[in-house]
Amino acid sequence: MRAKITGTGSYLPPHVLTNHDIEQMVDTTDEWIVERTGIKERRVADPHTYTSDLAVEAGKRALKAAGLKPKDIDIIIVATVTGDMPLPSTACFVQAKLKAKKAAAFDINAACSGFTFGLSIANAYICSGMAKRVLLIGSEELSRITDWEDRATCVLLGDGAGAVVVEASDDDTGIWSVDIFSDGTIWDLLNVPAGGSANPASEETVKSGQHYLKMKGNETFKIAVRTLEQVVVDTLKKNNLQSSQIALLVPHQANKRIIEATAKRLNMSMDRVVLNLHKYGNTSAASIPIALDEAVKQGRIRKGDFIMLESFGGGLTWASALIKW
Ligand code: UT7
Repeated sequence: MRAKITGTGSYLPPHVLTNHDIEQMVDTTDEWIVERTGIKERRVADPHTYTSDLAVEAGKRALKAAGLKPKDIDIIIVATVTGDMPLPSTACFVQAKLKAKKAAAFDINAACSGFTFGLSIANAYICSGMAKRVLLIGSEELSRITDWEDRATCVLLGDGAGAVVVEASDDDTGIWSVDIFSDGTIWDLLNVPAGGSANPASEETVKSGQHYLKMKGNETFKIAVRTLEQVVVDTLKKNNLQSSQIALLVPHQANKRIIEATAKRLNMSMDRVVLNLHKYGNTSAASIPIALDEAVKQGRIRKGDFIMLESFGGGLTWASALIKW
């Protein structure tokens, strides 16, 4: 049995923060940000809109696209590192707001790979027969853990949500493989040091900005390029496919240069790659489902097309998924 994506949806909060706005906040320039990352603007949720609210909007749209109601869903998975609260899970807020009474709901944290890791879970639920319909959502408000005085990270991050419905497939379309990987020995490249059991919230942690995201950008960049190139090549090999057979690459949107390097390794021209980070920046677990939804809406994916998803993020975690649409 295969699982397939039967509906996609996304939601971006309306407020736009441009590079020119950030020029007023830290010592940076629009030119530097565009040249080094490809990002021109990002979205920031207002203080009364939570990660679960973005998730609910994206989820509703995915359900509508799949022709389903909230009551039809068995499992809700939210991939996020910026949940509404440490406890309960954001997925439980989503379940309540959607009135998806039948659904069991839980979060997963695989940072920017959260959506792809979540897809592997959804795939396993469907293929094992343990669930018929899974709503998988990547939702983030990275603005809440952004140090707006750190020019090395604040230019990169944004808020948003994307969602998919996963159900059983009755033909050979669907998820052909999802491969997920982690290396916890290099966790320190990307982390939020305080707010957990290692470093609980205190006056001191707040004063020293330890609740903000920290990243060793350049080291992360080099590992990302190497790892992503390898994972996509391995996935193709495993499925006896050539890169020429991939209609569309849907990468995590962290840095245009990382995406271009992967496309080059696959010998794919950029017109076969979804790139929307100029509008939204890096939205972590939300970036792939937002990009996927945009590609679907723009008619860039036809039935029978092979598409490749690939992600890389804190943990470290990285993953790929091969889907026949
Ligand atoms: O999504 C999860 C995984 N995350 C990623 O994959 C992100 C990976 N990393 C990156 O995308 C890039 O490393 C960055 C965009 C974060 C940084 O680009 P870089 O080319 O690696 O720059 P760098 O960190 O090596 O810094 C180069 C210079 C430094 O100045 P000096 O030391 O050469 O004088 C930085 O201080 O650029 C400086 N710099 C900036 N200058 C203007 C760093 N941030 C900025 C900025 N504006 N915003």
